[in-house]
Amino acid sequence: MSSTIQSALHPAGPQAARIAHLYWIFFWVCFAVYVIVVAFVIAAYIRGRRNAVADSEDTPGMRRAVISGAAITIVTLLILMGADAATGRDIGTFAQREPAQLEIDVVGHQWWWEVHYPDALVPSHSFVTANEIHIPLHTPVLLRLATRDVIHSLWIPRLHGKRDLIPGRNNKFWIQADEEGTYRGQCAEFCGMQHAHMSLVVTAEKPEAFARWKSQQQTGAVTPATPEQQRGQQVFLSAPCANCHNITGIDASATLGPDLTHVASRTTLGAGSVINTRDHLARWIANAQVAKPGAQMPPNDLSPDELNDLVAYLESLK
Ligand code: CUA
Repeated sequence: MSSTIQSALHPAGPQAARIAHLYWIFFWVCFAVYVIVVAFVIAAYIRGRRNAVADSEDTPGMRRAVISGAAITIVTLLILMGADAATGRDIGTFAQREPAQLEIDVVGHQWWWEVHYPDALVPSHSFVTANEIHIPLHTPVLLRLATRDVIHSLWIPRLHGKRDLIPGRNNKFWIQADEEGTYRGQCAEFCGMQHAHMSLVVTAEKPEAFARWKSQQQTGAVTPATPEQQRGQQVFLSAPCANCHNITGIDASATLGPDLTHVASRTTLGAGSVINTRDHLARWIANAQVAKPGAQMPPNDLSPDELNDLVAYLESLK
């Protein structure tokens, strides 16, 4: 079910399938051209060996060969160009054939992805997450792209080609996943020191599972249940954490760093830098620079008890 293959040649939806189709047209046309060119080179070599004296005169036969060679080349390039344009048009007009049933805003940051699920009818049902996108199967989804800093590029190879996130501009594209599973995506435009650690995961699931995930994300953070978690919440609010991170339901609403309302439900920390375990989380909070040098999150000087309580609290935020 789950797949870690990150390959544009294993499309899992109509948009990526169209791109893979174009790839194979280019592949076979170029392969045929290569074979023909090599055949001519070999033929010329054999012929040259037979005629010890080269016939360098400009014969009408040679002129015809050059003209037809040029014509075949131009026609071949026009065919490839036409196929390219047709693919671009198909991908760009997908929404006209299959209107989007879900709209998601993706904001690029150095070096993570902010993901908004806006709800125009009931704004309080909107929610924000990071580095993980969930979509229902067989459903056209619109991704709107923006960036908070530099140029990034969102690439989920099994679902779509690359699309840049450009300052001051709103780009978009449409995806649809027809296979249940997870699809890895990543930033595909060099955006600084941790460009390589700017990945995300798209989970395509049955509509019921998606609805469950969505309603869980729409609820505020759980209330601390144990004294440890209660102390951890106080650490969160008094330490620098709340200056950058939002946790819906408590007095922390900063948006500089990833929203942590449901941080424990996510699989990785630091946009795919490390697996989200208790140990990794503690190390990440103490000094994120070890796992992700250059990350915007500064080291935190907490006592072992404070760190333990804080991790217990964050781990409860399913
Ligand atoms: Cu963001 Cu590369």
